[in-house]
Amino acid sequence: MQSRKKILAICGSTRINSTNHRLIKAIAQLSKDIFDIELYDRLTQLPQFNPDDDNENVSKEVLGFRQLLKKADGVIVCTPEYAHGVPGSLKNAIDWTVGTSEFSQKPTMLITASTDGKYGHQSLLETLHVIEAKNIHNLQLLISFASTKVNKESKINDMTALSEIKKLLERFEQTINEKVKVA
Ligand SMILES: Cc1cc2nc3c(=O)[nH]c(=O)nc-3n(C[C@H](O)[C@H](O)[C@H](O)COP(=O)(O)O)c2cc1C
Repeated sequence: MQSRKKILAICGSTRINSTNHRLIKAIAQLSKDIFDIELYDRLTQLPQFNPDDDNENVSKEVLGFRQLLKKADGVIVCTPEYAHGVPGSLKNAIDWTVGTSEFSQKPTMLITASTDGKYGHQSLLETLHVIEAKNIHNLQLLISFASTKVNKESKINDMTALSEIKKLLERFEQTINEKVKVA
């Protein structure tokens, strides 16, 4: 039997009752036979990105985050949109990886789960594309009115969203198992 793939999930919302956090829990439950999903919940502990600090004395938090990304077979990013953009704490975390390329050829799945979300989704897709996240254009989903689609027990109660997420997880698994380079 194949061992479960190690996945790092990053939630772009740091809110306690976050819909995106509940969505990650729902995804972990749906994919528990194939993925071992670890939640990265330390976005607020990362220092503000400054290229001048990205040197041999870079903070331990940053090194730890990079290490988790390196070890993971794949990354799931679930995020809301804030003011038609990407939440600052999530973008800050990604900026810490640009010089060290942890996302390069890393199978990465992006879900923007927001009230609307289209602007932040496009922006983050472009960022993940430019840092070479593997197959990102086939591994993305925008879920609008998200708070009505995931209940308090972290169950996806919208059948369309559930079906789209299941298909996305299949493509994510295929991408992880593919050895070829995909732009
Ligand atoms: C500061 C702020 C700005 C927001 N801006 C947007 C926005 O531009 N577009 C949108 O779709 N939702 C926006 N929202 C609503 C969030 O998408 C919604 O609250 C979402 O459920 C938050 O995700 P979470 O539950 O995972 O925290 C905003 C919320 C906050 C707090």
